[in-house]
Amino acid sequence: MTSSMPVRAQNLTLIKGIAPNRLGGFVGSDLRGNQVSVLRARTKTLAPKCSLSAARPVSQPRFIQHKKEAFWFYRFLSVVYDHVINPGHWTEDMRDDALEPADLSDRGLVVVDVGGGTGFTTLGIVEHVDAKNVTILDQSPHQLAKAKEKEPLKECKIIEGDAEDLPFDTGYADRYVSAGSIEYWPDPQRGIREAYRVLKLGGKACLIGPVYPTFWLSRFFADAWMLFPKEEEYIEWFEKAGFKDVQLKRIGPKWYRGVRRHGLIMGCSVTGVKPASGDSPLQLGPKAEDVSAPVNPLVFLLRFLLGATAGMYYVLVPIYMWLKDQLVPKGQPI
Ligand SMILES: C[S@@+](CC[C@H](N)C(=O)[O-])C[C@H]1O[C@@H](n2cnc3c(N)ncnc32)[C@H](O)[C@@H]1O
Repeated sequence: MTSSMPVRAQNLTLIKGIAPNRLGGFVGSDLRGNQVSVLRARTKTLAPKCSLSAARPVSQPRFIQHKKEAFWFYRFLSVVYDHVINPGHWTEDMRDDALEPADLSDRGLVVVDVGGGTGFTTLGIVEHVDAKNVTILDQSPHQLAKAKEKEPLKECKIIEGDAEDLPFDTGYADRYVSAGSIEYWPDPQRGIREAYRVLKLGGKACLIGPVYPTFWLSRFFADAWMLFPKEEEYIEWFEKAGFKDVQLKRIGPKWYRGVRRHGLIMGCSVTGVKPASGDSPLQLGPKAEDVSAPVNPLVFLLRFLLGATAGMYYVLVPIYMWLKDQLVPKGQPI
């Protein structure tokens, strides 16, 4: 799982955690999940000491980190996604905080929202950018059907597609946004390489995703469910794709008080700038997953059920943390 590749992130800036601790400061955590107090938007240069992770061997689980399984996962989840999933895991506060580094500073910017799903993050984008300039792409027609129902997204282009093989010309967009989708990509480096390709010179990618938990039980369920990258992996993928000025901002709901050990809803927003026009300097082989290849239906069903069951743990964690936030006196760590 881990490789001995040298860490190349010495000059990267980590914008540290921002949950208010009600004592006037803010609570964040270091890369090991230890809680530390920080000032809002205070920045610190980090040189991660741990080695970077290589791709997980196919022989190991992560039952939903495949396009077919993700397709079926969202076939069912799309019915309740906006009402049940987002309020617990991906709140409007978090979304706005995570989109801030995307620098959506001009209504005329051309933006692609990759893995845009029901359009929850797109709703945050169209507050800053004209909807007619925004494209929502997702592999799930069921998720996109929900996005099509939303009035503020009526003028967006809404298309089916694969994050690892985007149907946009090289140099098409000013901004690439993707929120909460990388965890289902079998080959995340390929998706980030595509982000680089579709951007114009000087364009910015903003990728929002979960972080790998530091608590053993959370790690167990994360590994059985889907991809929870480490912070340094996000940075490595961005750098390898060719991005410059790579930055990572930690995000999380305020009621989590900066605790990061459980993962998922304590995530990050990673940004990078495209420094040269054209394709990414990174060359990759053929795609890891052939979605048209036949699968054994029983194995598929078993993987799907195990993955979805593991995901239930992450429905319980935010409820547990919310209860803790209610019970533990304000200002104390939880
Ligand atoms: C957790 S949802 C996030 C949706 C939306 N971005 C939001 O902020 O609410 C993940 C989305 O990624 C989509 N997805 C997963 N793998 C994909 C892929 N390879 N290409 C495009 N979309 C993908 C899923 O269909 C799903 O709609």
